[in-house]
Amino acid sequence: MKILVVDDEEIKRVSLVDTLSDGGYHTTAAADGAEALDLLKNERFDVVVTDLRMPQIDGMGLLKHIKNNIADTAVIMMTAYGSIPLAVQAMKQGAFTFITKPFRNETIIPLLERIRDDRRASTGTLRDKIQANLADIESIIVGDSAIIRDIRRMVELCGRNDATILLTGETGTGKDLIAQTVHDISHRRSAPFVKVNCSTFPQHLIESELFGHAKGAFTGADQPKNGKFDVAQGGTIYLDDVDDIPLEHQVKLLGVIEEKVYERVGSPMPTEADIRIIASTKKQLLAETRKGTFRSDLYYRLNVLHLNLPPLRKHPKDLPVLVDHLLGRIAKEQDYSLADDVMAFLSTHTWPGNVRELAHALERSFLTGNGDITVDLLATEAILADPAPTQTGPFKDVVMQTERELLERALMHAGGNKSAAARLLGMKFSTFRDKLARHGLF
Ligand SMILES: Nc1ncnc2c1ncn2[C@@H]1O[C@H](COP(=O)(O)OP(=O)(O)O)[C@@H](O)[C@H]1O
Ligand SMILES: [Mg+2]
Repeated sequence: MKILVVDDEEIKRVSLVDTLSDGGYHTTAAADGAEALDLLKNERFDVVVTDLRMPQIDGMGLLKHIKNNIADTAVIMMTAYGSIPLAVQAMKQGAFTFITKPFRNETIIPLLERIRDDRRASTGTLRDKIQANLADIESIIVGDSAIIRDIRRMVELCGRNDATILLTGETGTGKDLIAQTVHDISHRRSAPFVKVNCSTFPQHLIESELFGHAKGAFTGADQPKNGKFDVAQGGTIYLDDVDDIPLEHQVKLLGVIEEKVYERVGSPMPTEADIRIIASTKKQLLAETRKGTFRSDLYYRLNVLHLNLPPLRKHPKDLPVLVDHLLGRIAKEQDYSLADDVMAFLSTHTWPGNVRELAHALERSFLTGNGDITVDLLATEAILADPAPTQTGPFKDVVMQTERELLERALMHAGGNKSAAARLLGMKFSTFRDKLARHGLF
């Protein structure tokens, strides 16, 4: 492959050309955009690796020229941390990927290999390959709404990139699914994907869990232990509920992202972290930084690429394809049927547990109904799955309050029809009517 390196900073340019030439790539250099354009007139390059900010013709200008005039030259943008939004913009306009400065020259090689592999795998151009990838993603992250289409485009773009990702969204909106998908389509796909649930282990052990510990690092550390970062080397680490990392431990994570090295607890020896980080949160992380429970510098380091997953109630248009997809997964080879009024019913529910709740309601209805899914079955599942607000107080009061909520919800799901509501709760009509009366619900 022939590579053109464009950077006005001489030291960086020369050292990158050296590394790439040593790596077996036929590499040429240009000191600015204008010089690059001159070279491109007479010579074909497979990849142009260019700085974003340069005098006169900058990386964006160069990209525009390449995309308009040379169909199949891939562009990699080198950018400072502060210009990442511009680099994301560049990817949307056809750059293959971007890499944030400062970076070690070697880290660019897997990206070049990825471009070579994509070219080999596809009979057409790199653009064809990107379209094919998008089609694959569509079979995993389903939905026809504009919002989900955008998410898929972002996922595809994240797959060509190595930058840190922040996933935000309510529970059940697909954060885990997206983290896994990004890994599976990235150049790291043959290395491990390691999920760390930041909320599940004792807070004081979180550093040892993430970075491992040396023998004797603390009482009880009889043996050295690998951390999740050790296991994830070469691959992706997914920090689920990252906001649960206590404030005093956040600084170490910040250090890893900035320096790309980490130390085991109780050991001064740094290990290089060749790892992509994806973090998720159900919270409004920016608000947490204002409250002082989350470091704002860490927030900005995590939030390089941001995907905000919409709650299901914001894209009800996707219910039919989601139901179809989920039932395919649940039923496997078995037959199933949906009663005519099921879709209409599903769109009245607000799905506080999002796609996960939908999947569970469908699964339980599928099992109870032996494959025949009806509104009655679904409504019962949805009512039972809706978490009632947790109450405290005298037992009797809590029971009364919960009972009242169940009655109200059953009535709501049944559209006010009392006998249908009684059936949803598996209650005799007379019992149901008496209870309504007792709660003053008529
Ligand atoms: N757009 C989608 N297409 C297909 N399945 C989805 C979609 N969104 C969520 N799911 C499914 O919903 C369930 C919950 O998703 P998950 O990624 O665990 O959510 P979160 O991590 O945000 O709580 C999983 O079974 C996942 O596969
Ligand atoms: Mg999750």
